[in-house]
Amino acid sequence: MTAPLPKAELHLHIEGTLEPELAFALAERNAVTLPHASAEELRKAYAFEDLQSFLNLYYELMSVLRTAEDFADLADAYLERAAAQGVRHAEIFFDPQAHTARGVPLETVLAGLGRALEAAPERHGISTRLIMCFLRDQSAESAMETLEAARPWFGSLITAVGLDSAEVGHPPSKFREVYDRAREAGLRLVAHAGEEGPPEYVWEALDVLKVERIDHGIRSLEDERLVERLVRDQIPLTVCPLSNVRLRCVDRLADHPLPRMLEAGLLVTVNSDDPSYFGGYAEDNFQGLRAETGLTDEQLRRLAANSFRASFLSPAERDAHL
Ligand code: ADE
Ligand code: ZN
Repeated sequence: MTAPLPKAELHLHIEGTLEPELAFALAERNAVTLPHASAEELRKAYAFEDLQSFLNLYYELMSVLRTAEDFADLADAYLERAAAQGVRHAEIFFDPQAHTARGVPLETVLAGLGRALEAAPERHGISTRLIMCFLRDQSAESAMETLEAARPWFGSLITAVGLDSAEVGHPPSKFREVYDRAREAGLRLVAHAGEEGPPEYVWEALDVLKVERIDHGIRSLEDERLVERLVRDQIPLTVCPLSNVRLRCVDRLADHPLPRMLEAGLLVTVNSDDPSYFGGYAEDNFQGLRAETGLTDEQLRRLAANSFRASFLSPAERDAHL
């Protein structure tokens, strides 16, 4: 196999990198009982109908993450795999409310993630940023409380905020005030939109939340005016091909809209979303696209370059990768 292209990963949920073997190891360490007989049995449960059926398992398995050490081990395991897949820079999501709701303090989560991320340049040759996501199926008040609780880490460990979890029925506009506050605090802004939800949610993420990047955004193609806007402003879309197939947003990789998105002039990037659950890390997504959609080497190089262009690295840091 040729060496993987150097790339940035911009859409990666750290909790979605929990491999079944690590889940069982952490369950034992923390005396947590999982409702699955073994790692192999658990893997068999990874057959999803839609986003919600995945989220149910994703939140259930988080019960094994309890201590700062657990979060550090989780992130370090991801960074090791990512490095082997050519990732040189990772902008990593985490879901604080999914942990605080279980009684795990925010300080514990951030102590563990912070430790792994701080060691990453030296240990794995990867620079990182951390993006705090709000669960959109919870209230705007809960998101605001979470934002305020995280204020001590703004600008140091936490660079940006995002919006994830069950999309349909939870439009971006629900979080207008939260994003206003985050912007005032100097944080960068992203949001999941147009994964299962309609193009209107992408418009709202842009015009109401004023995000700088759209996570997924594949349904934008249904709205010509929206595509024009995204092309004109070169708004990055962090697309996750294997995820889209596993969550049945797209039937088969061969039908994935990514080649059409590139053709349309959109600033598209390729990412792994929740790689433990969706059958592949960053380079696996690149290779899948190459095999199934016939993207050329030149297009794959463009996608890898886009990932650095779309990142929150400084211009000088970005240029060092291009
Ligand atoms: N949380 C983790 N993965 C997600 C996805 N693909 N969409 C929305 N929320 C998520
Ligand atoms: Zn995602």
